[in-house]
Amino acid sequence: MVRFFGFLVGLVFVAVAAWSLVWGAFAFVTQPREENVVHAFHQEPRALHLASDGPLGKYDRRQLQRGFQVYKEVCSSCHSLSLVAFRNLEEIGYNEAEVKAIANQWQIEVPDVDPKTGEANTRKAIPADHFPSPYPNEVGARAANNNALPPDLSLITKAREGGAAYVYSLLTGYRDPPANLPADSRPGPNLHYNPWFANLNIAMPPPLRSEGQVSYADGTKPTVDQMAKDIAAFLTWTAEPRLENRHRAGLASLIFLIFATVLAYMAYQNIWHGGASRRVRITGPLDPENMERRDEANREAGVNL
Ligand code: HEC
Repeated sequence: MVRFFGFLVGLVFVAVAAWSLVWGAFAFVTQPREENVVHAFHQEPRALHLASDGPLGKYDRRQLQRGFQVYKEVCSSCHSLSLVAFRNLEEIGYNEAEVKAIANQWQIEVPDVDPKTGEANTRKAIPADHFPSPYPNEVGARAANNNALPPDLSLITKAREGGAAYVYSLLTGYRDPPANLPADSRPGPNLHYNPWFANLNIAMPPPLRSEGQVSYADGTKPTVDQMAKDIAAFLTWTAEPRLENRHRAGLASLIFLIFATVLAYMAYQNIWHGGASRRVRITGPLDPENMERRDEANREAGVNL
């Protein structure tokens, strides 16, 4: 009896699931998807090719240095880079003395405590410090940015779909709102239309505005597009400084696996193939006649005896 009820309850569940599946599929086919405004105007990240792309990619150190320069001269006034220390810059080609100078001359001082009085104060950065936030805390950051919070950029290329290509597209994506944009999606006060941003209107004013905003020491022309590419490359590095090691380890593992596969195949050939696996064995009594027959059969099968 209990079994019967169990069966009945199961049957009801299956019927309900099947019913909702059929109706769901029916609605999916017959009703067109509702286009919301954000969907209609939002753009996918533009293509960006960096030297670090692909399974064997390596960072272009000069590009990373240019990107760092853009961070230093433009972005650092609003965005922190709290997971990166000044001394990490040695990995992108600055020497120890240069790193010391960069830390020493950083425009934002790092929070500290007066060793005599215990009062909170600030001091110049040293290579072991992480890139400081320009604001004392979140409230201060929001107060300075019309209540929007500039996120820490250390991991931003990992945190957004599209990664570096998204950052590049966002920075070069400020536009006048199109004429057919509905009134409630138009940028409000202190917002800027940017179809790459999730809800189309971003609180960050366009940070890269004109060619020559930074001047590159290596002679690269600092167009807005170039600066955006360089900072996107730099932020790829901040999010994954060990990318090259990972690529190298991956390549070494692949080579090892190919080698091991070849070795295993050769061992198989040597030990099993045409040998033990095909060898004919005696089933009857172990008398000379039987043994003779076995050897004969093995010779015919081409088995090395
Ligand atoms: C004047 C201050 C200011 C400057 C300078 C600035 N930003 Fe921003 N940024 C903001 C604010 C504020 C936000 C938050 C926007 C929002 O939530 O609408 C933001 C958000 C971002 C985001 C996140 C967007 C998202 O998907 O959430 C990225 C990436 C970014 N900024 C990159 C940069 C880069 C790179 C630079 C330098 C080239 C830069 N910013 C310079 C204020 C600034």
